[in-house]
Amino acid sequence: MKSLTVLAPLLLCVTLLFSSLNVASDSAAEALAILKWKASLQSQNHSVLLSWNTSNNPNTKTSPCAWFGIHCNHADSVTKINLTGYGVKVTLHSFPFSSLPNLAELDLSTNELYGIIPPKISQLSKLTYLDLSYNQFSGQIPPEISHLVHLQTLHLAGNQLNGSIPREIGQLKFLTDLALCSNKLNGCIPASLGKLSRLVSLLLYNNSISGPIPPELGNLRNLVEVYLDTNRLTGPIPSTFGNLKKLTVLQMFTNSLSGPIPSELGNMESLSEISLYHNNLSGLIPTSFGDLRHLTVARLYENQLSGPIPEEIGNLNSLVYLELGENQLNGSIPASLGSLSNLKILHLRDNRLSGSIPNEIGNLMKLIVLKRVYLERNRLRGNISEDLGIYPNLRFIELSDNELYGEVSSNWGLCRSLQSLFIARNNLSGTIPAEIGNSRQIHRLDVSSNHLVGEIPKKISKLTSLLYLYLNGNKLSGSVPLELGLMSKLLYLDLLLDLPAKNKSKIEWKQKEEN
Ligand SMILES: *[C@@H]1O[C@H](CO)[C@@H](O)[C@H](O)[C@H]1NC(C)=O
Ligand SMILES: *[C@@H]1O[C@H](CO)[C@@H](O)[C@H](O)[C@H]1NC(C)=O
Ligand SMILES: *[C@@H]1O[C@H](CO)[C@@H](O)[C@H](O)[C@H]1NC(C)=O
Ligand SMILES: *[C@@H]1O[C@H](CO)[C@@H](O)[C@H](O)[C@H]1NC(C)=O
Ligand SMILES: *[C@@H]1O[C@H](CO)[C@@H](O)[C@H](O)[C@H]1NC(C)=O
Ligand SMILES: *[C@@H]1O[C@H](CO)[C@@H](O)[C@H](O)[C@H]1NC(C)=O
Ligand SMILES: *[C@@H]1O[C@H](CO)[C@@H](O)[C@H](O)[C@H]1NC(C)=O
Ligand SMILES: *[C@@H]1O[C@H](CO)[C@@H](O)[C@H](O)[C@H]1NC(C)=O
Ligand SMILES: *[C@@H]1O[C@H](CO)[C@@H](O)[C@H](O)[C@H]1NC(C)=O
Ligand SMILES: *[C@@H]1O[C@H](CO)[C@@H](O)[C@H](O)[C@H]1NC(C)=O
Repeated sequence: MKSLTVLAPLLLCVTLLFSSLNVASDSAAEALAILKWKASLQSQNHSVLLSWNTSNNPNTKTSPCAWFGIHCNHADSVTKINLTGYGVKVTLHSFPFSSLPNLAELDLSTNELYGIIPPKISQLSKLTYLDLSYNQFSGQIPPEISHLVHLQTLHLAGNQLNGSIPREIGQLKFLTDLALCSNKLNGCIPASLGKLSRLVSLLLYNNSISGPIPPELGNLRNLVEVYLDTNRLTGPIPSTFGNLKKLTVLQMFTNSLSGPIPSELGNMESLSEISLYHNNLSGLIPTSFGDLRHLTVARLYENQLSGPIPEEIGNLNSLVYLELGENQLNGSIPASLGSLSNLKILHLRDNRLSGSIPNEIGNLMKLIVLKRVYLERNRLRGNISEDLGIYPNLRFIELSDNELYGEVSSNWGLCRSLQSLFIARNNLSGTIPAEIGNSRQIHRLDVSSNHLVGEIPKKISKLTSLLYLYLNGNKLSGSVPLELGLMSKLLYLDLLLDLPAKNKSKIEWKQKEEN
């Protein structure tokens, strides 16, 4: 307020002096209007705003054009204000909306701005770029924002905005980027967004948006990325999304979407990532998925998908993450998956997959790239004595709760990168090979509830990274090697031998510091 009273006579003076010279008086008026907003800042001595003052040179008019974060046109009228990331704490209550007729870009992101977004923002009629993301704005998105007809970018992400998305936003026909993510928005996605024909990026994730996904979004043929995840969306994935030929990323995970995955999605020829996990999608995985040649990430886990894994998925040479677990998929694992030579994670656990683990998958596991294989809780059958070979690069393999039999191969000792080996609750026989003590990276080893016999090899105590060791539910004999007690990291040990199930006690060693 102090600077305002000092400046008021100056404003009058400057206005009188230059009243015939329109341009100059505009610049001074803009400067004073900005200073009025500065006066409402919580921290007046904010170092980056020291240049926002009138004391530059008493002989010249006050112009904001050299001020920090401010840009002007050739007529010295403000066209851009950029204060991103400077810890500015203020409301927009005193912002000079009506005094900046040429403001085209306003970037106040990543500050501590708070209060509402005033409807008066619609007075910035030349605005093309508005970024108020990552502040503490609250209240609703004013529908008047739709009067900013030149807007191309509207970023309001990471605030506390509530209420629903105004359907008037559909009038912003030049909009290319709309980011309303990480707020508290509720209500439905307005179908009017389907009119934003230039839209490239639509980010609505991490809100409480409910209702169905409007099929009209399938009209937005310029869309490159769509993030609708972490909301409360219901109903089906519209088949119109098949029209989105430029779409590279489609994120719809953690909603309550239901119904089938439309086979039209196979037409999204640029698609690189699709994440539909943690929904209620049902029906088959469409064979048209095999047409998505650029796909690198396919995350469909935690749904109700049934039927077979389409063989055509083996065509997706670029695939890095194939995550189909926690569904009701049945049939056998297609041998064609062995062609996915860029795969890092194969996650098929908690399904109803049967048959044997194809040799082709075994070969894939020998490659450098594949690091994690999750096949637990299926109905896989087969003798793993020899099939499972030497995987020098594999880090995680989970085969628990299947119907595998045969012996634990001594080859496992040659898997030098192995961190986690889970083969619990199968029908393994024979002894625990001492060679396993050579896989020095192992953190978790679980061979419980099989038919293993013989002694616990002393060499297991060489597994100095071991945190969890489960050997219980077998027919192991002899004594517990004393060396196990020296394994300083061991958090959880369950190796009790032939006691009846309900009389198993667990020996727990609390870890000293780690994790
Ligand atoms: C700004 O002023 C406040 C007190 O009003 C003081 O605590 C703070 O250290 C000052 N900051 C700078 C950068 O001078
Ligand atoms: C006013 O801003 C100028 C730069 O525009 C700066 O050099 C000067 O130190 C500032 N004056 C005050 C009092 O902060
Ligand atoms: C604002 O400045 C930052 C760098 O400080 C830049 O990354 C950002 O693109 C600028 N915003 C605009 C709208 O020019
Ligand atoms: C939105 O939040 C404001 C406070 O920030 C609250 O007063 C208002 O009731 C909320 N409105 C809705 C619709 O939740
Ligand atoms: C989700 O949004 C809230 C604000 O509403 C934020 O605090 C949180 O960090 C966001 N979460 C993610 C994962 O972005
Ligand atoms: C899926 O639907 C069932 C009822 O049909 C419901 O109980 C469950 O919460 C839904 N799950 C998700 C992730 O929406
Ligand atoms: C897979 O499950 C479906 C029912 O969801 C059944 O009709 C089909 O026979 C099953 N196929 C196999 C190979 O088990
Ligand atoms: C598993 O295969 C191995 C090697 O081919 C063989 O020696 C063993 O008898 C088989 N085990 C069972 C239970 O069929
Ligand atoms: C498990 O192996 C035993 C022999 O070790 C055999 O009798 C039994 O049928 C097998 N069970 C299954 C489910 O394969
Ligand atoms: C467990 O075994 C011990 C003997 O080792 C016995 O005294 C105890 O009663 C058993 N407990 C149960 C619940 O069976």
